Amino acid sequence: MQFAYAAYMSLLLLTLAHDQHRWNQSLATSDPFYPSPWMDPNADGWQEAYAKARAFVSQMTLLEKVNLTTGTGWASEQCVGQVGAIPRLGLRSLCMHDAPVGIRGTDYNSVFPSGQTAAATFDRALIHQRGYAMGMEAKGKGVTVLLGPVAGPLGRMPEGGRNWEGFSPDPVLTGIGMMESVRGIQEAGTVACAKHFIGNEQEHFRQVGEAHGYGYNISETLSSNIDDKTMHELYLWPFADAVRAGVGSVMCSYQQVNNSYGCQNSKLLNNLLKDELGFQGFIMSDWQAQHTGAASAVAGLDMSMPGDTEFNTGVSYWGANLTLAVVNGTVPEYRIDDMALRIMAAYFKVGKTIEQPPINMDFWTSDTYGPVHWAAGKGYQQINFHVDVRGDHGNLIREIAAKGTVLLKNTGSLPLNKPKFVAVIGEDAGPNPNGPNSCPDRGCDNGTLAMGWGSGSANFPYLVTPDYALQAQAIKDGTRYESILTNYAWSQTKALVSQANATAIVFVNADSGEGYINVDGNEGDRKNLTLWRSGDALVKNVSSLCSNTIVVIHSTGPVLVTDWYDNPNITAILWAGIPGQESGNSITDVLYGKVNPSARTPFTWGATRESYGTDVMYKPNNGDGPPQQDFAEGVFIDYRYFDKADTPLIYEFGHGLSYTTFEYSNIRVEKSNAGTYTPTTGKTAAAPTFGNFSTNLEDYVFPTNLEYIYQYIYPYLNTSDARNASADPHYGGTAEEFLPPHATDSSPQPLLRAAGRSSPGGNRQLYDVLYTVTADIKNTGAIPGDEVPQLYVSLGGPDDPKVQLRDFDRIRIDPGQTVPFRGKLTRRDLSNWDPAVQDWVISEYPKTVFVGPSSRKLALKADLS
Ligand SMILES: *[C@@H]1O[C@H](CO)[C@@H](O)[C@H](O)[C@H]1NC(C)=O
Ligand SMILES: *[C@@H]1O[C@H](CO)[C@@H](O)[C@H](O)[C@H]1NC(C)=O
Ligand SMILES: *[C@@H]1O[C@H](CO)[C@@H](O)[C@H](O)[C@H]1NC(C)=O
Ligand SMILES: *[C@@H]1O[C@H](CO)[C@@H](O)[C@H](O)[C@H]1NC(C)=O
Ligand SMILES: *[C@@H]1O[C@H](CO)[C@@H](O)[C@H](O)[C@H]1NC(C)=O
Ligand SMILES: *[C@@H]1O[C@H](CO)[C@@H](O)[C@H](O)[C@H]1NC(C)=O
Ligand SMILES: *[C@@H]1O[C@H](CO)[C@@H](O)[C@H](O)[C@H]1NC(C)=O
Ligand SMILES: *[C@@H]1O[C@H](CO)[C@@H](O)[C@H](O)[C@H]1NC(C)=O
Ligand SMILES: *[C@@H]1O[C@H](CO)[C@@H](O)[C@H](O)[C@H]1NC(C)=O
Ligand SMILES: *[C@@H]1O[C@H](CO)[C@@H](O)[C@H](O)[C@H]1NC(C)=O
Ligand SMILES: *[C@@H]1O[C@H](CO)[C@@H](O)[C@H](O)[C@H]1NC(C)=O
Repeated sequence: MQFAYAAYMSLLLLTLAHDQHRWNQSLATSDPFYPSPWMDPNADGWQEAYAKARAFVSQMTLLEKVNLTTGTGWASEQCVGQVGAIPRLGLRSLCMHDAPVGIRGTDYNSVFPSGQTAAATFDRALIHQRGYAMGMEAKGKGVTVLLGPVAGPLGRMPEGGRNWEGFSPDPVLTGIGMMESVRGIQEAGTVACAKHFIGNEQEHFRQVGEAHGYGYNISETLSSNIDDKTMHELYLWPFADAVRAGVGSVMCSYQQVNNSYGCQNSKLLNNLLKDELGFQGFIMSDWQAQHTGAASAVAGLDMSMPGDTEFNTGVSYWGANLTLAVVNGTVPEYRIDDMALRIMAAYFKVGKTIEQPPINMDFWTSDTYGPVHWAAGKGYQQINFHVDVRGDHGNLIREIAAKGTVLLKNTGSLPLNKPKFVAVIGEDAGPNPNGPNSCPDRGCDNGTLAMGWGSGSANFPYLVTPDYALQAQAIKDGTRYESILTNYAWSQTKALVSQANATAIVFVNADSGEGYINVDGNEGDRKNLTLWRSGDALVKNVSSLCSNTIVVIHSTGPVLVTDWYDNPNITAILWAGIPGQESGNSITDVLYGKVNPSARTPFTWGATRESYGTDVMYKPNNGDGPPQQDFAEGVFIDYRYFDKADTPLIYEFGHGLSYTTFEYSNIRVEKSNAGTYTPTTGKTAAAPTFGNFSTNLEDYVFPTNLEYIYQYIYPYLNTSDARNASADPHYGGTAEEFLPPHATDSSPQPLLRAAGRSSPGGNRQLYDVLYTVTADIKNTGAIPGDEVPQLYVSLGGPDDPKVQLRDFDRIRIDPGQTVPFRGKLTRRDLSNWDPAVQDWVISEYPKTVFVGPSSRKLALKADLS
């Protein structure tokens, strides 16, 4: 046997579940699952796309298929990631580009509120509109795949650096956020990408090189060790919703799960995602998250991003290696065909046609002219066309951020009505003196916080600061207005807020982002849960002197407000999340009552950091080996943990006030006739192949009429000598020798009982509505307002959370009016995952439903028969 030792070791870790590990014999392992499922021609919502993709892929040569699956290398083209083009068939290179709050690194784009802020609206329609607007902007720039939305991190730890990019630690709220975002983005004609799959809950130790940068020499990345039940009931749940919504692509994550890398873990990709959930789109690697060639191909990976082994190596696990691996029979033909089919099906599914407008922006520079191949410095031409794709999205952005602002406390000072004198205090109310886009990828905390940092950032087209908008309102009202836009001018601040008639509005923040940037000692993840830049001292100081102090918090998650939240001089507290470009207008709309607040906090506000029960691992716990993060708390994160531990907290999940009041009454439960659950049985068809290929390596040699571009990844071989072409000294061996059993099996495979028959998202009966729960909600105040009734369930077992969110609505109600709320409970909502049966099962325990305005205000209650 001759093959690369490193690859061999990864393969062993990948496949031999019971093999001994190098570091610690008791480490978690992942069972192999092969072969990799092929597309289902009859899958719901995919039939037409499948037919178009089959017709297209049937015309493709092997080199063209490899081109479609392999990125051209870091900075080789204009987008964050691109694959090779298919010039012969008129298909330009597909562009994979960031994402979560706006089109990254370009201009004349919008900056939207974060996913977390969108989640706080509890408004499906608004989340959908946000997705659609983002999909339109992506399309307008020539982006094929928008790299969002985010359900990993889910938010296991409140310190998690990228939690703001996603929605909420509650899987149902995140699942609805995923579903509405995917639908919106794809209706606009852009492919969405559900990421990061899965267990990607912290930034620390997600990449080996990054960890070296902050002083830890680990051999492999962190392993998230997650048991099967927790996986299904918590982390996989929102991905199931994304798949059910027809998401075109999924990005596998950097870290390992059970000591097998996210992008070559066959249990995750083949079993859970493609088989059980019936995912029909394609799986792309996170950037540099691929670690093997043939092994990742048979484990379910469909696209290598950005294509090179590591940035700018000029070599690839795929590209020429994939061409060779197919020709030499290691990777079966049906697998490369299935990769190409999945990519093209996702492409056609969103309504794209072969001819697409060109990419009109460049990620690597804002110059109008420059090298189209940035890394190589080749192809000088116009690369930025500065196309304005913003439409009228500013209005939507203003609305989402206002409707996503949570009124945590109000003793009567709000809404403001022509106040006599407003004093705005804090750096977080003002501009970054160097400009809103001055810090690369927003890696600093200067001025008002309207975006976190990392690849989830985008350039502001403008940023309306709170100071700007509040001053404009004050001038209109004849209010006296003064602002001090620094946290460090205490004597001046003291003199100002001590004056008679002051309404002091103190703006404070806490930031976080992605692990490749360190801001003030925070390696992506927050190092604490307190406010930044002396925010606590500022709030305490101002409120000790001003009896009408209003606090506005911009943050990427909860902060500790324990020391001051109940000071009677603090008359109101608002969480304005991560609002995007209209920040000042949005908060002004809420403070002055133009928007009656009704957002709900999408996470719990604990009294202490320890009270969350989970925390980021900041120091490796396994020597030089992969850090081991055991998700030992199971499904008990955020409010489920607080409820279980019966820990006092400050503001519970789902809490949020309004300027009016509501009364809940009259809960009713109606049972539907859904019939009994039938596990799926039967088999798939055998794996199809489309076309054929030559086994003569001469046919794959680099064409003489093509100019080689430095560091570019091609599907071609440098020579017809296989060993030299692969540049792998251990080239050789046979598939049987080093791929896991069944890895190349193309025979019909048994359908999983929890999987659907052609129904993405899993067995369609899981989504049957078993009960409808209704309640009456009356606006008992004097002004119209939106209310967010929430439906929770107790599944009744000793290992079940006290309550779990299952449905909600956001309803407009006029004063004196009573409106019914209708919540639905599906079979999945009432089930637990049974690891022994490998299916969802409704337990015998008595079940109870609750309706109320938050997770701890659940006065209405009924038993399920
Ligand atoms: C092996 O890993 C387990 C779980 O992470 C840990 O408790 C144990 O101390 C480790 N043992 C050694 C020898 O490192
Ligand atoms: C990880 O290991 C746990 C415990 O054996 C198991 O329940 C779970 O299914 C495994 N998950 C994966 C993805 O291998
Ligand atoms: C592969 O893609 C590159 C551009 O990215 C293109 O130059 C080349 O012609 C493509 N090869 C094939 C076989 O389509
Ligand atoms: C990291 O550890 C490996 C052995 O585990 C060693 O070969 C390498 O030199 C170390 N690198 C650094 C930067 O310390
Ligand atoms: C093929 O993959 C190996 C790693 O498995 C790598 O060392 C080699 O450079 C690759 N060859 C090409 C041509 O990219
Ligand atoms: C087939 O090609 C792959 C990719 O270069 C290589 O890793 C493997 O060793 C080759 N296998 C055979 C049997 O030549
Ligand atoms: C910008 O923020 C950083 C922390 O992110 C801080 O160290 C620095 O002093 C700030 N600069 C200005 C001009 O406020
Ligand atoms: C302003 O402050 C003065 C002095 O404390 C007080 O007499 C007056 O009622 C206040 N006016 C308003 C509108 O609050
Ligand atoms: C928490 O981190 C922030 C940001 O780095 C820092 O400004 C603050 O001082 C820290 N808080 C404490 C209590 O150390
Ligand atoms: C808070 O007040 C104290 C004096 O009481 C002062 O030393 C400190 O600088 C102030 N801090 C802030 C952030 O205002
Ligand atoms: C509230 O503000 C008043 C000044 O208006 C001050 O005298 C008092 O000490 C403050 N109370 C608290 C609890 O900070």
